[in-house]
Amino acid sequence: MLTDAYARKFNYLRLSITERCNFSCAYCLPEGFRSVSRPTEPELSLPEIKNLFLGVSAAGFRKIRITGGEPTIRPDLMKIVSSASETPGIEIRALSTNGWNLKRIARDLRLAGLTHLNVSVDSLNQERFRALSGRDSLPIVLSGIEEALGLGFQSVKLNAVLHRDTAHSELELFLNYVKSRPVSVRFIELMRTADRGSYRDRNYLSAGELRLHLLKAGWKALDRGLASGPAQEFSHPDFVGKIGLIAPHSEGFCESCNRLRVTSLGRLKLCLFGEHDESLRPYLQSEELALTLSERIQGLLPGKPKSHFLAEGRVGGARNFSVMGG
Ligand code: 5AD
Ligand code: SF4
Repeated sequence: MLTDAYARKFNYLRLSITERCNFSCAYCLPEGFRSVSRPTEPELSLPEIKNLFLGVSAAGFRKIRITGGEPTIRPDLMKIVSSASETPGIEIRALSTNGWNLKRIARDLRLAGLTHLNVSVDSLNQERFRALSGRDSLPIVLSGIEEALGLGFQSVKLNAVLHRDTAHSELELFLNYVKSRPVSVRFIELMRTADRGSYRDRNYLSAGELRLHLLKAGWKALDRGLASGPAQEFSHPDFVGKIGLIAPHSEGFCESCNRLRVTSLGRLKLCLFGEHDESLRPYLQSEELALTLSERIQGLLPGKPKSHFLAEGRVGGARNFSVMGG
């Protein structure tokens, strides 16, 4: 298995398939993707993506998450999911989406072999959702999630980015939501990006504050299992669902990193906030070349930093999440 200088092992690929997005989230693309995204090359094609899956599976990867931008914008999304499902060894096929299209495509995603679904829902208040995302889509997103819950995915998770002024009222709404639904809602600390530094400073709240609140209300921290990834999850006997906290600013967050990222232009990102950005495209032009990816990536891994430098305010090459893959 691929291993770095700090003995971290990598078996999880996050692949962005497009920088394009139809939302304009205040912390990411407040003026829409057209205002920031000027890709100079075409997005990875389906055959290039197939070869990438083959290459990482040969390198021992077991999990692939498809992200964006908004991945459901790509017309060949189902084919991409199917090709992950058809790649030997890729046991977990996950998708991150803003949910706008879920109601229409959830069933096909399941049929294409998707196993895990994450939906970004920053607010359960319709007006606030609109203000944050630029779209009045909360009702359609929620009905897509209801649809997905009936389809037998191994997990359906909701992600909400924490904002200081509204965290507590959102927590109340989400607690009510998970009372009877088998979903995990994860609150993510707002991270700094080059494009949105001052927004982050105005709105940041540490997950520690919600943690105290949850513990007081009788929630119990669960052991960190494989399934929870970087989240610390909490459960409560009166609630069917779970609450998770993702705290990238906390000590030791990077120690268990098991993932590598590839952007929609085929660049390997060793870390979300790394400077490093190496094109894998030449290796994706045939199956034969793809089988040498393992060696290539192992050669680059010494460049993976021990940790990000968010505490020092350094964001590396991170402009916004639509470009780096959320
Ligand atoms: N901080 C934390 N999470 C972010 N995301 C995007 N930008 C940020 C940020 N600055 C995550 C959110 C969003 C997904 C696309 O990526 O979960 O819903
Ligand atoms: Fe789109 Fe996600 Fe960025 Fe929102 S956070 S604008 S959904 S890429």
